[in-house]
Amino acid sequence: MFKKIEISKIGNVFDLIGKDWMLITAGDEKKVNTMTAAWGTLGVMWNKNVAMIAVRPERYTYEFIEENEYFTLSFFDEKYKKDLVYLGTKSGRDEDKIENSNLNLVKGENLPYFQEAKLIIKCKKIFRSEIGKENFLDNNINSWYDGPNDIGGEHIFYMAEIIEVLECR
Ligand SMILES: Cc1cc2nc3c(=O)[nH]c(=O)nc-3n(C[C@H](O)[C@H](O)[C@H](O)COP(=O)(O)O)c2cc1C
Repeated sequence: MFKKIEISKIGNVFDLIGKDWMLITAGDEKKVNTMTAAWGTLGVMWNKNVAMIAVRPERYTYEFIEENEYFTLSFFDEKYKKDLVYLGTKSGRDEDKIENSNLNLVKGENLPYFQEAKLIIKCKKIFRSEIGKENFLDNNINSWYDGPNDIGGEHIFYMAEIIEVLECR
């Protein structure tokens, strides 16, 4: 059962995002897609509590984030790590990823999330930006685009207002 919690109760953001990972999910009643992410931030901007995510434009999920005003971030216990690996290595363009996973979608109000999540952050987009390599101040960042770690296009940053945080109890 999900209960609304205060944002200050979210816990260790570094572990949550960087180690445990999250699913970014967007869509409507008809079509939803999700992908695993390990990069992002939670913080404060323009006096709002915000989540920032970084999505490469070739992700199928990118199209869903572009088309919808909202997205959600879902966080899970370790036992779902295999599903997060699957959802982060296959594309929804090629297969029905959600159906093939052990996760069940909770649909509604363009804020789809997962029944099995331990924590849900509901987000409303307020800002979008292309990173632009000319803005890099540390050349090491280039390696994620033109070097050994190059696995895709330049990320799009989305800043979104956190509108609700739910915890499973
Ligand atoms: C642990 C992990 C973290 C990832 N983090 C990100 C990320 O922050 N941004 C991103 O664009 N892709 C990230 N990915 C890659 C996408 O999840 C992956 O390309 C996925 O298959 C995209 O699915 P889609 O085409 O259905 O959207 C990550 C993958 C894994 C396994």
